Amino acid sequence: MAEYEPVFRTPELGPGNMREVHAHGEDLVLLNVGQTYYALSAHCPNDGTNLATEGRLEGDLLVCPNDEWTFDVRTGQRVRPPGGPALRRYTIRVEENEIQVGPPLPRAA
Ligand code: FES
Repeated sequence: MAEYEPVFRTPELGPGNMREVHAHGEDLVLLNVGQTYYALSAHCPNDGTNLATEGRLEGDLLVCPNDEWTFDVRTGQRVRPPGGPALRRYTIRVEENEIQVGPPLPRAA
């Protein structure tokens, strides 16, 4: 398995947008917040709702529509309610307008 997998092209994902992508055998949500790209696990740890297709992006917060659990896109941490399970984050790199997803980052303490 390649360490970095291409998932999308930068012109197709403008600021404030997100898409469902797949890499490393996982469903991920790819987001553009302020022209920075983030990749997080797509499924809400509460009840598995697909945040890429059903969640909403409010600034740098990703909100699950079911019970309004809210995650900081930059860290994956749950901020509403605070604490609790986080979304797994993945490394990202951009090469020649190609967004590539790398290995998961260590979980935050
Ligand atoms: S399924 Fe996401 S908050 Fe309940």
